[in-house]
Amino acid sequence: GGAAAGLGASALVGADLLAGRGEPPAPAPSPAPAPEEPDGGETVPFHGPHQAGVETPPQAHANFVAFDLAADVDRERTRRLLTLLTDDVAKLSQGDAALADSEPELAYVPARLTVTFGFGPGLVERVAPDAAPSWLRPLPEFAVDRLRDEWSDGDLLLQVCADDPLTVAHATRMLTKDVRAFGAVRWVQAGFRRARGSEAAGTTMRNLMGQVDGTVNTAPGTDDFERIVWDGGGNPDWLRGGTSLVIRRIAMDLDKWDRLDRSGREESVGRRLADGAPLTGSREHDEPDFDAVTPLGFPVIAEFAHIRRARTDDPAERIFRRAYNYDLPVTGSEGQDAGLVFASFQADVDRQFVPIQKRLDELDLLNEWISPIGSAVFAIPPGCEEGGFVGETLFD
Ligand code: HEM
Repeated sequence: GGAAAGLGASALVGADLLAGRGEPPAPAPSPAPAPEEPDGGETVPFHGPHQAGVETPPQAHANFVAFDLAADVDRERTRRLLTLLTDDVAKLSQGDAALADSEPELAYVPARLTVTFGFGPGLVERVAPDAAPSWLRPLPEFAVDRLRDEWSDGDLLLQVCADDPLTVAHATRMLTKDVRAFGAVRWVQAGFRRARGSEAAGTTMRNLMGQVDGTVNTAPGTDDFERIVWDGGGNPDWLRGGTSLVIRRIAMDLDKWDRLDRSGREESVGRRLADGAPLTGSREHDEPDFDAVTPLGFPVIAEFAHIRRARTDDPAERIFRRAYNYDLPVTGSEGQDAGLVFASFQADVDRQFVPIQKRLDELDLLNEWISPIGSAVFAIPPGCEEGGFVGETLFD
């Protein structure tokens, strides 16, 4: 449609050529590239059996926003809040302004906006005290933990993701305004990946330590994913079609990491930095050979390597990782405040996430450079159909 507007004289010469008229022109100064259709109009369906933002290919930007509900927010007021939020998310995610949108123009670029609702123990307690799954509580303490209250827990979570940071900011503001009369923001964790279009779609992300992060992960749409994420066999009925989310804010000591040489870095994980291939293979998705030994008899993938420690033979102990990088502005002479907003979805936190974190707590060379400073667990209710609201099954 609008492409013609950007075309200059050289395009007109081209048109003459196509029509069989005139001589081939001398090489023209390269024309401005034809404007491509912008992709900010893309939307992810909001309604359905599962909430969006879990299976959705990770957008470039995220705000994880946790709220504390006010003491007087009871079951009925929680229902009102969830209805309000659902209405606004249904609109915003489709590129429409929210109900009382103060800057409606900002809503017209949805950029694959998804907002995923998570319920902390405090919210479930208010609505249906006996309905909480047994894993809906703070994780057990780990020796590596340096947890801070300001990055932990919360009654209600909104995971706001889109490919455009202005879209994320606007949605976050609109939804935060909705919650104002019901509670207060407890924490916000902003995260990012590479900008959309910088790399081929489907490229595994890199974290700020430079590692390819997310190679061994279950793939949405597979039976494996169904089992790991959605099949909450032991969960209460209201969570059918839902799952759980563990968020760990994990600080990286990048200045200390800078002092480690490249082979040390690769050994700490068991994979190569260049392409994420296991130290026993040549391509990213090659299966690591944990039995391979060097000529001197040492394991090629060290006993302390992150991938050896995180790996499990038990299919029931797997998780789906959907992490984001964080990097706060450096202030004064302080070192960089950067790391990973680790986020993983799994049907059952205790059965799937905790055993992995326990092994990493006992031994993982990466612990030399990383430490968890925040931790939160949320139940992710199923999605809803038009006219319904997210979390309605908890009120049945
Ligand atoms: C794999 C980095 C925290 C669980 C990996 C890989 C890297 C990595 C580079 C290899 C590539 C891949 O398969 O993704 C990190 C960093 C972390 C971190 C930098 C913290 C800042 C965690 C945590 C958990 C975890 C907290 C869970 C408790 C896993 C799992 C794998 C993995 C399950 C795949 C292991 C396999 O090959 O089967 N991680 N990780 N990671 N990580 Fe982490």
